[in-house]
Amino acid sequence: MSAVIVRAPGKINLALSVGPLADDGYHPLATVFLAVGLYEYVAAEPADTLQLEFDPASAIPVADLATDDSNLVIRAARLLAEATGCTAGARLRVKKNVPIAGGMGGGSADAAATLVACNELWGTNLTRTDLESLAAQLGSDVPFAVSGGAAIGTGRGEQLARTLVGGELHWVLRFNDRGISTPAAYRALDEHRAQFAEHLGPAPIPEVDPALLQALRAGDVGALAPQLVNDLQAPALRMRPELVAALAAGERAGALTGIVSGSGPTLAFLARDAQDAAAIAERLRGDGHRVAQVSSPAEGATRCC
Ligand code: C5P
Repeated sequence: MSAVIVRAPGKINLALSVGPLADDGYHPLATVFLAVGLYEYVAAEPADTLQLEFDPASAIPVADLATDDSNLVIRAARLLAEATGCTAGARLRVKKNVPIAGGMGGGSADAAATLVACNELWGTNLTRTDLESLAAQLGSDVPFAVSGGAAIGTGRGEQLARTLVGGELHWVLRFNDRGISTPAAYRALDEHRAQFAEHLGPAPIPEVDPALLQALRAGDVGALAPQLVNDLQAPALRMRPELVAALAAGERAGALTGIVSGSGPTLAFLARDAQDAAAIAERLRGDGHRVAQVSSPAEGATRCC
């Protein structure tokens, strides 16, 4: 059998409402995931053992990434093999476009694509639902990278309820050279809440505003823009104060609004339409920034050849 190639999308969070730190080290969430058209590719070929390499032609530097058992790709393949009793190996080659530690679920997309690719390669025939439950064991964002589209995420983010998007939404992503570690962003939020507990009161019960879902269903970008919220935005901006000016610059360039994606530092700018997105991307690129114009919703992990 020749290579199975699967792509899986990066995500942004249109809402990310974070509850208090729980005993398991995670925070209960209410989030709205949106898969965007920026993809990771995983090629799986038959092999005797599990082997991982990153394609040097990736859009981002991959030289420093671990290729041993600590990588989520190897963990995903191993988990599928264990769950199905499969003893085959695979040579896995990952081409990355989604930033590392960028708040867009790039590592999660790699894991999701690996599950789907190895399931095909090995003929293990698990259903999408089976794959999504395995995905939940790998990380909070992995089930969404399998399913794609748009979904409300609760629990740690792994419990998904699909939600509709009325039409195509257009975004400009602004990347950064230095990532933010997800645990560090959550920790910064907890510390801030602890420090100002007297003013802030107890951490809120996470929830998503129905007005956001309504705007999303209607595909009404004007109504959607003011609804975008992210509890991790303030900690990300405190860790990277230069992002405050970067958000303002995106709005000056014509975006309806800008938001930190997940735990950051990638910024997502919502455009009125594809033409506006192209103009915003052009302006930010002209200022020397690395950007991508993407549309959404994007489909989940899918075999592309
Ligand atoms: O689930 P995942 O391994 O992607 O989570 C990475 C880290 O992000 C966790 O170790 C935790 O510090 C933080 N996290 C959290 N609450 C969530 C999801 C992630 O605190 N709901």
